[in-house]
Amino acid sequence: MKQYIIKGGKPLVGEITVGGAKNAALGIIAGAIMADETVLIENLPNVNDVNVLLDAIEGIGAIVDRVDAHTVKINGAPITSKYVDYEYIKKIRGSYYLLGSLLGKYNEAQVALPGGCNIGSRPIDQHKKGFEALGATVKIEQGGIISAHTNELKGNHIYLDVVSVGATINIMLASSRAKGTTIIENAAKEPHIVDVANFLNSMGANIKGAGTDVIRVKGVERFHGSEYSIIPDQIEAGTFMLAAAATKGDVLIKNVIPKHLDAISAKLIEIGCEVEEFDDAVRVVAKRRLGNTQVKTLPYPGFPTDMQPQIATLLALSEGTSVVTESIFENRFKYVAELARMGADIKVEGNMAVINGVENFMGAAISAPDLRAGAALVLAGLVAEGFTIIDQIEYIERGYEDLEGKFVSLGAGMEKLDVNDERAIKKFKLRVS
Ligand code: EPZ
Repeated sequence: MKQYIIKGGKPLVGEITVGGAKNAALGIIAGAIMADETVLIENLPNVNDVNVLLDAIEGIGAIVDRVDAHTVKINGAPITSKYVDYEYIKKIRGSYYLLGSLLGKYNEAQVALPGGCNIGSRPIDQHKKGFEALGATVKIEQGGIISAHTNELKGNHIYLDVVSVGATINIMLASSRAKGTTIIENAAKEPHIVDVANFLNSMGANIKGAGTDVIRVKGVERFHGSEYSIIPDQIEAGTFMLAAAATKGDVLIKNVIPKHLDAISAKLIEIGCEVEEFDDAVRVVAKRRLGNTQVKTLPYPGFPTDMQPQIATLLALSEGTSVVTESIFENRFKYVAELARMGADIKVEGNMAVINGVENFMGAAISAPDLRAGAALVLAGLVAEGFTIIDQIEYIERGYEDLEGKFVSLGAGMEKLDVNDERAIKKFKLRVS
């Protein structure tokens, strides 16, 4: 088991390159097995959730050829099993995309119920409703396996009751091979929805309207091979933007699509930070302590829920009182107790956090409760006086590639060490003191 040790207090300065979007990669890997020819995927983030999904598709017979850390070739032709109950698959959310892709390609799928970060009850009724509308019978079997099967998938008109990223992608996957046309209304509009649709189209699918709230999918009989490069990760980019702001740093964040970061940039500018946009980069400069604001998480293009813990951490260090409202997941404030140990003044009432900014945090021994909350605690550690030790970093590694390496390249005092390796901790402390 590993942990991060961080010596806070240094402004982050320099340049950083963002990797491919994890949440797009999961939909794209699931989609790739729908072709019986080789699909080359580039700009793949080398993070645990992605690697678990690649192991899972290999486990059912797909050829997975890791060309390098960020490139993979996938061929779904040799798939023999439509039953996915690989040990680790239950721990990730993206596993449910195999339901949509296997159902679309083979008319049957059985996949262990998805896990993922414990940030709310995370029902899958909209996925089920979508598959059923396409003509599938969907059941939750013993042992937490979801099964879906049909003789033939037929296009239909589907109105989602809630805007769901996962249900939108899953219905796109299944309906892309159904007979006739499917219309998904009240669809999610996140950048990774567009990326998955573009990828499926590159294999021969006919999907129009991705990125708006009405998506039209004309089913096709087969997919062909393709070469595709995944979009940059909006949340990784946003995390570095807020880290630059929190440490009063100056960071150029490269390989981003600035439009995807609009909600984050707007909040930073509002509280007094400088954000400069280039074609495929943003520069964030904070010269002084930032101000207060109100943030409410919303589906894209609103402020992303996956950036809520990070912005709350920044606001906990800003001047005045801020309010952060979480409107997507009901259990996304678990990091508040950890921040309180570092001196933050945050009160959570229902889905609202009232934050009274403090001058600084003090280093502490804390635990990452989930992926984005873990990233927020790293931000806190980078600012805090003294040393911060964060354990349960396996959550963070689900979605951030080489986080410590990237922060160190910006001047941070940070290292990944074995838990309880006292000698290594002493050595780190000597080195950075
Ligand atoms: C995706 O989760 C992401 N995960 C999440 O990222 C992200 O926070 C979330 O979208 C919102 O942007 C992946 O892409 C693997 P939803 P997902 O379906 O698909 C409710 C991260 O840190 N809902 O858009 O599970 C649901 O409870 C992770 O990278 C239903 O009621 O999210 C929530 O309130 C964490 N019924 C809302 O909709 C359903 O059938 C949005 O969830 C489905 C969802």
